Amino acid sequence: MKTTTIFLAAAGLVLAITGNGLGADARNGKLLFASPTLGGGTSGKSCLTCHEHGRDLSPETLSRKHYLIMGNPVASLAGVINFCIEVALRGEAIPENGKEMTDLIAYLPILITDTSAKPQ
Ligand code: HEC
Repeated sequence: MKTTTIFLAAAGLVLAITGNGLGADARNGKLLFASPTLGGGTSGKSCLTCHEHGRDLSPETLSRKHYLIMGNPVASLAGVINFCIEVALRGEAIPENGKEMTDLIAYLPILITDTSAKPQ
């Protein structure tokens, strides 16, 4: 009985810390996704400006072998994100293996799943 109470309290605490079920990294990714200064962006746009509700993104976004972005072949998801940072945010590419990139990529499946669950 006591153990159950402690377990429930601990589970509640974990939920409280991670907010609406997003892991810490994905949560940071969500903030970055909405930040116009990601990569030192200068266009005033954020990822969210164009990809609100997952527009132009789909479950295949996460698994493509290569991408064609505005007619340009791009080899990886991180490459696509940097393409959008450079061209759309008018910033500078962020390190492909850095924390910001990892967090953004952790957030994408959540954005995409949220979107496909809702009627368009
Ligand atoms: C000015 C609008 C704009 C902004 C801002 C923008 N994007 Fe994009 N992005 C696009 C468009 C348009 C495409 C689709 C290009 C195509 O299909 O030719 C795209 C494609 C993508 C794709 C590939 C989708 C697929 O399935 O091939 C990803 C991933 C992506 N963007 C992520 C991001 C991220 C992360 C940011 C923020 C750093 C961002 N975008 C900012 C316009 C934008």
